[in-house]
Amino acid sequence: MNVLFVASECAPFMKTGGLADVIGAVPKALAAAGTNVRVLIPAYPALHDLAGGGRSVMLLDDLFGGKAEVKAVNAQGLDVLLLVAPHLYDRDGNIYLGPDGKDWSDNHLRFAALGYAGAELAIDGADGWTPDVVNLHDWQAGLLPAYLSQSGRSAPPAVMTIHNIAFQGLFDASELANLKLKAEMFAADAVEYYGKISFLKAGLALSDRITTVSPSYACELLTPEFGMGLDGLLRERRSDLSGILNGIDLEMWDPESDPHLVENYSPRSLKRKEANKREVEARLGLQRRDGPLFCVVSRLTSQKGLDMLLECLPGLVAEGASLALLGSGDSALERQFAEASRRHPGQVGVVIGYDEPLSHLLQGGSDAILIPSRFEPCGLTQLYGLRYGTLPVVARTGGLADTIIDANEAALAAQCATGFQFAPINATMLEQAIARACAIYRQPGIWSAMVRRAMRHPVGWDVSAAAYEAIYRSLIAD
Ligand code: ADP
Ligand code: GLC
Repeated sequence: MNVLFVASECAPFMKTGGLADVIGAVPKALAAAGTNVRVLIPAYPALHDLAGGGRSVMLLDDLFGGKAEVKAVNAQGLDVLLLVAPHLYDRDGNIYLGPDGKDWSDNHLRFAALGYAGAELAIDGADGWTPDVVNLHDWQAGLLPAYLSQSGRSAPPAVMTIHNIAFQGLFDASELANLKLKAEMFAADAVEYYGKISFLKAGLALSDRITTVSPSYACELLTPEFGMGLDGLLRERRSDLSGILNGIDLEMWDPESDPHLVENYSPRSLKRKEANKREVEARLGLQRRDGPLFCVVSRLTSQKGLDMLLECLPGLVAEGASLALLGSGDSALERQFAEASRRHPGQVGVVIGYDEPLSHLLQGGSDAILIPSRFEPCGLTQLYGLRYGTLPVVARTGGLADTIIDANEAALAAQCATGFQFAPINATMLEQAIARACAIYRQPGIWSAMVRRAMRHPVGWDVSAAAYEAIYRSLIAD
């Protein structure tokens, strides 16, 4: 079976968040079961060298204002199709945002191009390869099924995966023709959304199946609270919607071989985790304390609930704990965490920025990881936390609720706890969860049993890759 993935990021080539990790990992898991996935992503400047070594497999004379080409490469165990379109993708900085921190003003064209090229590949194939199914991811690829539908040509079935419904790709209706969309597409059962064009809605309305990245988020999406205006459409399509839990790449995230750790360790050699803790303390200017070292590795946005953590910092420090935070995003939160590190010197260490190697070291060197998200479709950092024996303290929502077993009395007695959950999601309950984690940390026997259990908790892709495959097969059989 051949499957075309279409997305705006793919690790390790281009990553701003968990979407990239998933796009880089699922194809490898599916390959093990005999499914060939090719991943179409834009050739951003950081990918020029990769594209330079690729084979040209498709030419597009005018892709939204300039010539474009698709180059095929095999790299890092992935079959990648790079959409080379310098007029759309050759610019420095963030792939979504300009230097002013605002969306690039032509994002509608940049990502329509991705969907358009994806549709051409889906219909015509390239390089002697034709997909049996297309799986598009998030709003950036959302117009793909609209192009398939308006082409009137025979096309493979499409699956749309929602990684985060908060990002919808909403643009002015006057752009319809510029987006090469026919007038008939501006309809309630296609791209039209309250008088605007919604890329995400197009994908949801016109794909054959819809998936999202955890079973709990699949349920939450049907409610007005989490559906963000698309819950009605999703309720209508409820029988086509599945929640498939994300996994992680067990090779890239392996405490036994991770090159970003100062010492590798396993559940049998936990003592060696200590050296990583000393390194984190040294790098972030933290003192050695009696309580646990908590970390955060996160985008700093309101989704992630870290404003609540700011309120809990005095309590965290009073417990004898410390905090190492790596994050970037919202400038007010960046400033507030930088201030917090000045207010609690040696106890709160903050690195503002995006740093892949440091994110691995924090997972390896911390005792626990804090994820107080207001909503979380799946979340990957809690899964890395499990694998690295860094116990997750999470809000009870979405994929966080599905992956972490709270250390309540029953779970402790049954010896199955792997972390700490809190609900309702507010600063008081977060502070209580932090205090509960600190209390268990003071009982080293219980803590280290939880750490070993967390490290053995299955977080790979086996089960979920089979679930994706089953959906693809059912569509081909239809
Ligand atoms: P989201 O995709 O909503 O940001 P996830 O938990 O699914 O949340 O994935 C986040 C991914 O981005 C993880 O791989 C995490 O390690 C990484 N990440 C987030 N912030 C940073 C950062 N500042 N530096 C390095 N990696 C980061
Ligand atoms: C999104 C979500 C996150 C999820 C990731 C990968 O960025 O916010 O919860 O883990 O996509 O699916």
